[in-house]
Amino acid sequence: MTLELFNREVKAAVSSVEMEEDGEYQRQLALFSQSSTEKGIELVRIGEIIARLDRRGSFLDIGAGGGHLTIPVSTTFDATTVVEPNAQQADYLRRRCPGFRVINDAWNNVALGSERFDFILCSHVLYYIAEGRWLDTIEKMYAHLDDRGCLAIVIQSPIGEVAEFFNYFTDYDVNILNLWRELIEIYGDRAVSVRYFINEIFAESLADMTAIGLFLLIDRRFREREDEIRKYLAGRHRTPEGYRLKQEEILLAIRGRNAS
Ligand SMILES: C[S@@+](CC[C@H](N)C(=O)[O-])C[C@H]1O[C@@H](n2cnc3c(N)ncnc32)[C@H](O)[C@@H]1O
Repeated sequence: MTLELFNREVKAAVSSVEMEEDGEYQRQLALFSQSSTEKGIELVRIGEIIARLDRRGSFLDIGAGGGHLTIPVSTTFDATTVVEPNAQQADYLRRRCPGFRVINDAWNNVALGSERFDFILCSHVLYYIAEGRWLDTIEKMYAHLDDRGCLAIVIQSPIGEVAEFFNYFTDYDVNILNLWRELIEIYGDRAVSVRYFINEIFAESLADMTAIGLFLLIDRRFREREDEIRKYLAGRHRTPEGYRLKQEEILLAIRGRNAS
């Protein structure tokens, strides 16, 4: 997913969120979700972190989207809070999970007072925030982390087939090593850890893989380049069975001060 878009010309988080109101985006998202092993593998990695928590009282999911992670993760906790600026997604989650506290706003606008959570998840959301604001954004998350809790941040790796796809059409220039170093400087090397995992996106038809490619590129202006995207995917990702794309992801975990 795109980071460069947000650094270069991004129209701030608000416009990105507006994009998600678009029906075509929702179709692409649904196709991506059913064609990728991503959420399954991500849940396994998140489960490894949750298993180490001393307490599983409260869970905060920042940018929950359609709740593909929120809903299964919530079953492990007594209480779940969701921060989601997209009105449709927030309404859906309210209806789907009446027990959740759903805050329909962007993370930077949310005021949670002195509230602390045992587990905070922020998966594939940082792209919606200018890279220069990532550390502040993470600091605000950490301020709401229980001393024995853990914060998990998931982002797209700058290496791999999806990153190559990105770099062909735009730039994917997130400096992950720098972010990692800065997090270690701020929170200490005992608190920060990194997990790397690889997903596979598989679609039987080129039309579906093209829709997924457009989803990955996020900005709907790429729809004007649909033919080019189709050719790229047909040329590089065709297999006898269909179309395959490997997606490499990074999970950055920051443990609270007294976490085991
Ligand atoms: C790509 S989706 C990820 C959904 C889910 N976390 C997952 O990994 O499946 C990104 C979500 O972040 C939300 N979002 C965008 N900007 C945000 C912000 N500033 N604060 C919180 N959420 C935001 C979007 O509305 C969208 O639902």
